[in-house]
Amino acid sequence: MRVLVVGNGGREHAICWKISQSPLVEELYCIPGNAGIQEIAECVEFSVDDIQGITDFAKDNSIDLTIIGPEVPLVLGLADSLKEVGLKVFGPDKKAAKFEGSKAYSKDFMVKYNIPTAQYGVFSNADDALRALKQFDIPIVVKADGLAAGKGVLICERKSEAEEAIVEIMQKHQFGEAGNRIVIEEFLTGTEASLLCFVDGTNIIPMESARDYKKAYDGDKGLNTGGMGCFSPNPIYTDRLKNYIDNHIISNIKVGLQKESIDFRGVLFIGLMIEDDEAKVLEFNVRFGDPETQVILPRLESDLIEIMMKVIEGNLHESDLVWSEKQAVAVVIASGGYPNDYKKGKVINGLNTMDDDIMIFHAGTILKDGNVVTNGGRVMAVTCMEENVEKARDKIYNNIGRIIFDKMEYRTDIAKL
Ligand SMILES: Nc1ncnc2c1ncn2[C@@H]1O[C@H](COP(=O)(O)OP(=O)(O)O)[C@@H](O)[C@H]1O
Ligand SMILES: [Mg+2]
Repeated sequence: MRVLVVGNGGREHAICWKISQSPLVEELYCIPGNAGIQEIAECVEFSVDDIQGITDFAKDNSIDLTIIGPEVPLVLGLADSLKEVGLKVFGPDKKAAKFEGSKAYSKDFMVKYNIPTAQYGVFSNADDALRALKQFDIPIVVKADGLAAGKGVLICERKSEAEEAIVEIMQKHQFGEAGNRIVIEEFLTGTEASLLCFVDGTNIIPMESARDYKKAYDGDKGLNTGGMGCFSPNPIYTDRLKNYIDNHIISNIKVGLQKESIDFRGVLFIGLMIEDDEAKVLEFNVRFGDPETQVILPRLESDLIEIMMKVIEGNLHESDLVWSEKQAVAVVIASGGYPNDYKKGKVINGLNTMDDDIMIFHAGTILKDGNVVTNGGRVMAVTCMEENVEKARDKIYNNIGRIIFDKMEYRTDIAKL
């Protein structure tokens, strides 16, 4: 098969790494890719939101399967566009991608189908939103409805902060059209976790669990980031919690998809807040998580291409997913300053000194004059799989010091339970 992966992050490197092991894959392309992906796939320069360009490329190159990594092309309808010209695609169409494209839509779906979630209101003008603040206790969560690259959620400790947030989002258009509507939400306490599921139109089959670390610095200090590390499995997933999620969340999502005639084929990422073996849904995403994918896919023993084809055909079963008992850890190396301003273009040394069982998934990297140089905030994830988390973590931290670039940063406490 001729396979195309769309995206340029660590998630897409992990997907490319995994599928390049499949005997089904003859040619692998990536749009636009990064320096790590370039070692295993032919990278082609298109922007991920260039729906027509990517569709034409896939058609002209007789691509048998396109795998869409990031949310932006999914929400813009890349899957629809590819299907219109008769091509196979892994990733939901525009209608199903609304679960990530609109938080208001997702919340309404959750309430309609009895999926536990925080109390909320949806507002499309600032005056109504400001008036409604009276009904909420602090802290108050204010969310831009549309895509905001992970920056559209504000946790407000005071009413005045919530008022400012509403003005910034709805009147000053801080997130553009994504802020035409907002969701105001009750603040939930507990421990966050995410659950990635394959959805084949009817069946929703969870993958192995993972725990990610969102804060920039050790001890969960500093700003929120895209994710600074991860490990799998996540010990928070007790059998009782799994049962709760099956009976109150997954089964109700299934009913909702059917009743709303949503033909969801791809990955549904369920963001959860967990307390006492019960869970509420914070949000849905419609794609693999990053960095969760970097620890989940190494543990998948089955052929990912076979799984994806079954998702597309609508006949995936739990027995199709075989998981390694081993545990996986990934530590993200970032550019100094991230998630605020940082410099790009730093030469990265030491990548060829890693032990054999270390996997490096590149994110913000690019090849320049024969060197791998930094090209983003999160630069790469150093990953290892072992019989327990401690061993995997020790191996990673033994290796990570051999990777060197100016102002590199990483957390030293990933997977310390
Ligand atoms: N109702 C809530 N209560 C407490 N924390 C929340 C709530 N909603 C969101 N958060 C926090 O904000 C983060 C981002 O919110 P989320 O809905 O996942 O949007 P996005 O990932 O699109 O930015 C969550 O990971 C969580 O830490
Ligand atoms: Mg989220």
